[in-house]
Amino acid sequence: MREQLNIIKQKAIEELKTLDTPKQLEEFRVKYLGKKGELTAILKQMGSLSEEERPIIGKLANEVRLFLEDEIESKSNQLNSLALEQRLREEKIDVTIPGKRRRIGAMHPLSIVQKELEEIFIGMGFDIVEGPEVELDYYNFEALNIPKNHPARDTQDTFYITENILLRTQTSPVQIRTMEKKKPPIRIIAPGRVYRSDAVDATHSPLFHQIEGLVVDKGITMADLKGTLDTFAKRLYGEDAKLRFRPHHFQFTEPSAEVDVMCFACHGEGCRLCKGEGWIEILGAGMVHPKVLSICGIDPEVYSGFAFGLGLERITMRRYNINDIRLLFENDVRFLRQF
Ligand code: DAH
Repeated sequence: MREQLNIIKQKAIEELKTLDTPKQLEEFRVKYLGKKGELTAILKQMGSLSEEERPIIGKLANEVRLFLEDEIESKSNQLNSLALEQRLREEKIDVTIPGKRRRIGAMHPLSIVQKELEEIFIGMGFDIVEGPEVELDYYNFEALNIPKNHPARDTQDTFYITENILLRTQTSPVQIRTMEKKKPPIRIIAPGRVYRSDAVDATHSPLFHQIEGLVVDKGITMADLKGTLDTFAKRLYGEDAKLRFRPHHFQFTEPSAEVDVMCFACHGEGCRLCKGEGWIEILGAGMVHPKVLSICGIDPEVYSGFAFGLGLERITMRRYNINDIRLLFENDVRFLRQF
């Protein structure tokens, strides 16, 4: 039995060296010291020993047990600190590396102003609608009373997909699309991109933005148009904003006007901002042409309406003192970061 105990001890010492996980160590403990373990098996046989041998073997077995318990404990400590070291190595962070700066994006100046204008019109009970940028000739021109070969098309040359499909030159086609679908009362604005094959310079871009407005109902008059635009101008430029309506011609309105706001820098005196005019043009407007109403299936004897269209870039550029339209589209972050 003494021999057996020595064998178990030697075997255990050898085996211990090969263990490298806490799980293996636990299996080792069970194998030797567990209820059915090898050492336990020996201890169970003690009863068969003689009186003299029992205390001697008992002592020896106890020593082996204590020895194994010690070994297991120190091996366990060793494995734990190895595991810790490994984790520390894997999770090492270099606190001296400069951090990655995550810049938070911001709204584009055109979006800021568009949103502001939308809020103003929403406050007056308008709905916001959208129309396609790739548009039929019919909606962009024909139904707006601009027939083929009409000189009014000259200032609105654009990019053609086919002979009858083009990139819209104005947001006015959304008027037609709206009136085709919805019967009065109608009160909408339609913001969006428009295109013209203009050469690029400080004030021209082949892509720009407009906001269209349309109101159709019974008994709508020029007074409603003036009142609406007046309220709009006051919300946008302040209570002392003044508008001036100049007679003009648009194919789809009659009468038509161009609308100026009194220069907010010089109050009509004439300065650099308004180029000495005292007034700054902000939009085109008019009473919807009876022909246009008819084309959309709305009886001009019963209904009337007004419409207007404004350019977003101009308003934005004046708002932020931007002197070149290209800055709005180059998307140089050094420029955009300022807003
Ligand atoms: N669509 C016109 C343009 O691009 C602007 C405009 C003028 C729109 C008068 C209107 C309007 O709705 O009534 O020049």
